[in-house]
Amino acid sequence: MSARIIDGKRIAEEVRAEIKEQAAAFFARTGIRPRIVFLLVGENPASMVYVRNKGKSSEEAGFSHETLTFPTTITESELLDVIAKLNADKATHALLCQLPLPKHINEDRILEAIAPEKDIDGFHPMNVGRLLIGRGEYFAPCTPAGIMVMLEREKINASGKHVVVVGRSNIVGKPIAALLAQKAPNANAVVTLAHTGAGKRLTEFTRSADILIAAMGVPHAITADMVSPGAIVIDVGMNSIPDATKKSGSRLTGDVDFDAVKEVASAITPVPGGVGPMTIAMVLRNTLTAAERQVRS
Ligand code: GUN
Repeated sequence: MSARIIDGKRIAEEVRAEIKEQAAAFFARTGIRPRIVFLLVGENPASMVYVRNKGKSSEEAGFSHETLTFPTTITESELLDVIAKLNADKATHALLCQLPLPKHINEDRILEAIAPEKDIDGFHPMNVGRLLIGRGEYFAPCTPAGIMVMLEREKINASGKHVVVVGRSNIVGKPIAALLAQKAPNANAVVTLAHTGAGKRLTEFTRSADILIAAMGVPHAITADMVSPGAIVIDVGMNSIPDATKKSGSRLTGDVDFDAVKEVASAITPVPGGVGPMTIAMVLRNTLTAAERQVRS
């Protein structure tokens, strides 16, 4: 039997419609529109597409937004000056610096310069720390936050389940492992964080998953033999691979061998149309939350 395909695009549209309503109510109450500023350095094609999509979604949600673009020649101290001004600007509630940054700029220094209350990416050590502690006001990074909302809306309760996350990135692997392990109603999972260190034992680990989250950034790395029958498979991969049939010469594909794995799993997210749209919806949700917190205080 073929797996249920989880429609991330549809769930994200629902969430975005709700946020649009909440933003309108916030405006009616305060006369303020949530405002997000995107920082884009250089001309990385994927980054340009991501930022354009995030700007478009912000517009549709009724947010105020602006994208500041800079040449790759911008210095670290110039970029830090831009961030300091935006941190001090009361009208700006959210600040997102698209990664990756050029090699001559220290990414950690930039992320640590963004005020934690405006860091809707959840990359500042204050937000990372609070997420791990599980208390206080923080922002969870958008992709892991989107996976949590997706599980909830699909009525997949991770409590007591064995979740195996493959990939230990700071953007996805580590934070989703922390979120799912939290003592909270829709979390409370037993989590294994697998990575390249597993070597030949990787399949042994992935096969023991009730819920498998693939976030290693390797096209089609999760094959059918690595998945236990009936498991739920969440594919976070966003890999661009050559495809001569496409006008662009490439197409997007996940970390999971979708066609084969869907015959083994009970539910699976596609790429595109799975986790990706949820990430953008969470940029909006976190921005609205940032505005609500800042206007309240
Ligand atoms: N580059 C790849 N993913 C992300 C993300 O979630 N946020 C930012 N700022 N940059 C990224």
